[in-house]
Amino acid sequence: MKTIKKIKRMQEISDGLRRNKKTIGFVPTMGFLHKGHLSLIDIANKMSDVTVVSIFVNPTQFGPNEDFGNYPRDLERDKKLLREKGCSILFYPDAKKMYNEGFRTEVYVKGLSKVLCGATRKTHFKGVTTVVAKLFNIVKPDIAVFGQKDAQQAIIIKRMVKDLNYNIKIITGPIIREDDGLAMSSRNIYLTKQQRKDATILYESLKEAKRMISNGEAKASRVIKQMKKMISSKKTARIDYIKAVDTKELKTVKYIKGEVLIAVACYFGRARLIDNIIVNV
Ligand code: PAJ
Repeated sequence: MKTIKKIKRMQEISDGLRRNKKTIGFVPTMGFLHKGHLSLIDIANKMSDVTVVSIFVNPTQFGPNEDFGNYPRDLERDKKLLREKGCSILFYPDAKKMYNEGFRTEVYVKGLSKVLCGATRKTHFKGVTTVVAKLFNIVKPDIAVFGQKDAQQAIIIKRMVKDLNYNIKIITGPIIREDDGLAMSSRNIYLTKQQRKDATILYESLKEAKRMISNGEAKASRVIKQMKKMISSKKTARIDYIKAVDTKELKTVKYIKGEVLIAVACYFGRARLIDNIIVNV
C-alpha cells in the first residue's frame, strides 16, 4: 500500500490510473478505523480496480466546542488494517495543505444541511461537503462509498454530486454493529462502561419503532414518544433529537408512509452518538 501525502501527487496517480482505464473506488474517512469503515472498503474493492482510502480529520466540520482536538487517531493501526484489507492507496493529507493560507471557498447544500444533525451542529455539513468536494477533485474517483450510519451525510453528498455534476457514483453501505447492536463508531471509545451499556438502547428503540410500524402504527408522534420513553429510561442518555423524516428532502413526516428515515442523536457523556433505520411501508 502506498501512502500519499501530497495533493499534487495524488492527482497525478489518479490521472495515470484513469489513463490506463483503471476504475477508482474511494472511501473517505477520518481514521481510527473499525469494521464499519472496513465494510465500505470491501464494497469499493468489489466495485472498482483500485481502492483509495483517505484519512483526514477535517477541522472545518467540527464546531468550536466539539471534539476535534480529542478525536481519536492511530495511524499505524489504521495502516495495518488497510494493508490487510487490500487497500492500494492511502491518501493522508496535511491540514495546512488542504486549507492553505487564504482559503475561502465553501460548498453548502442548502436546506438539507440545517435539519437533524445540522440543527445542533450548525456548520458541520458545510465542512463535510467542502472537504468531500475537495477530496473528489484530488482523488478523482469513479465511485465513492459512504455509510448509512451517517444517513444525512450520504443524502447531502448525493445531492451535491448531482448539483455540481460530479461524474461519481455514490454507494451507501449498511450500518455495521457491535454484537449487542450498538452502531460502530470511532467515538464509542469515549464511552465509560455504564454509558457503553446504556448506549445499546438506541438500536433497541429503533427496533421497537420498526416493530410498532410493522404492527400497523402509522403515527410518527406515537413511535417517537415510545423511543423517547425507552432512551430516557437510561440515566446517562441525553437526547438531542429523534425524528421521522422522508429520505429525499429530510422533511418531518406526521405519518409513516413510503420510505421513512427514523433517526436519533443522543449524548452519552461527551460522546454524541447517532443511529437510524429506514422503514418502507
Ligand atoms: P468517518 O466518521 O470516519 O466515517 C467514514 C465513513 O464510514 C462514513 O461514510 C461513515 O458513514 C462510515 N461509517 C461510520 N461508521 C459506520 C458503521 N458503523 N457502519 C457503516 N459505515 C460506517 O464520515 C466521516 O468520517 C467524515 O464526515 C468524512 C465523510 C470523511 C468527511 O470528512
